[in-house]
Amino acid sequence: MTEADRVPAGVNPNVPSVARMYDYYLGGRDNFAADREAAEKMIEIGRRMGNDARQIALANRGFLGRAVRMLAEAGVRQFVDIGAGLPTQDNVHQVARRHAPGSRVVYVDNDPIVLTHARALLARERDVIAMEGDLRDPDAILDDPRVTAHLDLSRPYAVLLVAVLHFIPDDAEAARITARVRERLRPGGHLVLSHLYAGDAADDVTHAGQRVYSGTTSGGLARRDYDQIASFLDGLELLGPGVVPVADWTPDASPDGKYDLIRSGILAGVGRAPNSHG
Ligand SMILES: C[S@@+](CC[C@H](N)C(=O)[O-])C[C@H]1O[C@@H](n2cnc3c(N)ncnc32)[C@H](O)[C@@H]1O
Repeated sequence: MTEADRVPAGVNPNVPSVARMYDYYLGGRDNFAADREAAEKMIEIGRRMGNDARQIALANRGFLGRAVRMLAEAGVRQFVDIGAGLPTQDNVHQVARRHAPGSRVVYVDNDPIVLTHARALLARERDVIAMEGDLRDPDAILDDPRVTAHLDLSRPYAVLLVAVLHFIPDDAEAARITARVRERLRPGGHLVLSHLYAGDAADDVTHAGQRVYSGTTSGGLARRDYDQIASFLDGLELLGPGVVPVADWTPDASPDGKYDLIRSGILAGVGRAPNSHG
């Protein structure tokens, strides 16, 4: 089968997709030539920043797994994973289920190719659904009848925004989206977040990266500083070490630890809605 035979209807393989580029960083095979070319450019730009894009993507998956495991062990049974990405190893439902059988998961992504793959993987799954949706409208996702039929949103649930918010280039829009997600959490609900972080990289290097992403399905890439990223968890109780490099986030890491933020590539945090919330 040639690559052209693998292109689902409605997908333009010549426009790099951020989902397929990420699949390439992770060593996956669900990507096309245009994705690999754009991803290689980002790998080179990462090198100029002293970073290894592939290692950072793997570290991000590691964080996702540790956070879901911690939540499952803490009793969370409902997960809404927005910007879920192409299925890979240790997807949210697999991790959650390993530690809390019966956990229910909704995968949401705005890239049709993600849905094609997710539906094939999940065809026989009862406790997991995948649907197209856009992070820009969290209410449309949480009020979607497929979601409200699958989850009981009057009970605590976790929303995952892992490596997706930087694809909302407008700062005010990213702040609005995360504020709304936090408002919708039940007391005891969680927001799991990770976000690209360029550290002290020179502007010309980050601009080169932004130019690559402006030609992809996301249409852009935000550069945000530590405080902006941490503010997406405002009002929530930070679990584990707080907002730290994605590779360092473990449930029992210390908030007082020494973390190399500058070279981290991605920052991560998990917040819990307090009981007085809302
Ligand atoms: C870098 S991948 C992250 C995948 C997964 N969350 C992880 O961290 O391993 C980003 C995903 O977000 C999706 N995405 C980007 N913008 C989005 C939006 N506005 N709404 C929903 N999904 C979006 C992309 O299609 C892609 O699958």
